[in-house]
Amino acid sequence: MSSLTGKTALVTGSTSGIGRAVAEVLAERGAHVIVSGRDADRGARTVEALRAAGGAADFAPADLAAPGGPGSLARAALAITGQVDILVNNAGIFPFLPVADTTEEVFDSIYAVNVKAPFFLVAELAPKMAERGGGAIVNISTVVSRQAAKDVVAYASSKAALNNLTQSWTAEYAPSGIRVNTVSPGAIATEGTRDMLAVTGEDFAKTVPSRRIGTPGDIAAAVAFLVSDDADYVHGAYIAVDGGIGAF
Ligand SMILES: NC(=O)c1ccc[n+]([C@@H]2O[C@H](COP(=O)([O-])OP(=O)(O)OC[C@H]3O[C@@H](n4cnc5c(N)ncnc54)[C@H](OP(=O)(O)O)[C@@H]3O)[C@@H](O)[C@H]2O)c1
Repeated sequence: MSSLTGKTALVTGSTSGIGRAVAEVLAERGAHVIVSGRDADRGARTVEALRAAGGAADFAPADLAAPGGPGSLARAALAITGQVDILVNNAGIFPFLPVADTTEEVFDSIYAVNVKAPFFLVAELAPKMAERGGGAIVNISTVVSRQAAKDVVAYASSKAALNNLTQSWTAEYAPSGIRVNTVSPGAIATEGTRDMLAVTGEDFAKTVPSRRIGTPGDIAAAVAFLVSDDADYVHGAYIAVDGGIGAF
């Protein structure tokens, strides 16, 4: 796969799970990775691990649900190496709640992190990418963004909005050399799904056509392809990495 040397990659929500695995793979491929999240300890540990493996990394803390949080993160990231060539909109929250138990506060926080933050990160960073001749953006969605699924309705609808942003940003930014794509995970074992999978994981795996729960590395491999020059003609794609559960 082509190298990412000379590129700077901002990976939101990279203090944990899928985002951390994406950060690891992009650093291995030569990118200078900006790790982000709210938790400074987990951020420091992630940066330390990336550097120990020979990569270049820095931590930029951010609360993406806070007013102005996405814009501040974009500016902090740009200040680190002077550029952001790759943006992975991975940070996400996914409370499991029936509709009637979803408070307005919870709904607003889901949309703030999963939709509003990617929107305003792109609003800040895409024009800078365009000035430099291009860039790559990957949005991390979910299999339930395209399926009926109860108990995650606010979450599923927020990721459906994110899917549309991939398409709409392609219309707006492809002429400037910016490629925007979606990677859509199925059930992946992370810190965020640990408790749920501890209870339901074995039974759930039997329902997955490939008969296993996914790993963060499964998702990171797809992201690494999409942000590389090997994907130079890939714009606006929705790539399911879900063991086949989205195929039905
Ligand atoms: N795991 C799955 O089965 C699965 C399936 C489909 C889609 N996805 C999607 O994949 C993405 C990552 O999921 P995951 O399982 O890796 O989750 P995770 O282990 O819970 O990690 C979530 C990450 O998002 C960050 N984050 C959460 N709220 C934030 C906020 N307000 N501001 C800044 N950062 C915030 C967290 O950082 P801090 O705690 O440091 O703030 C953490 O790094 C999410 O978008 C999720 O919807 C996951």
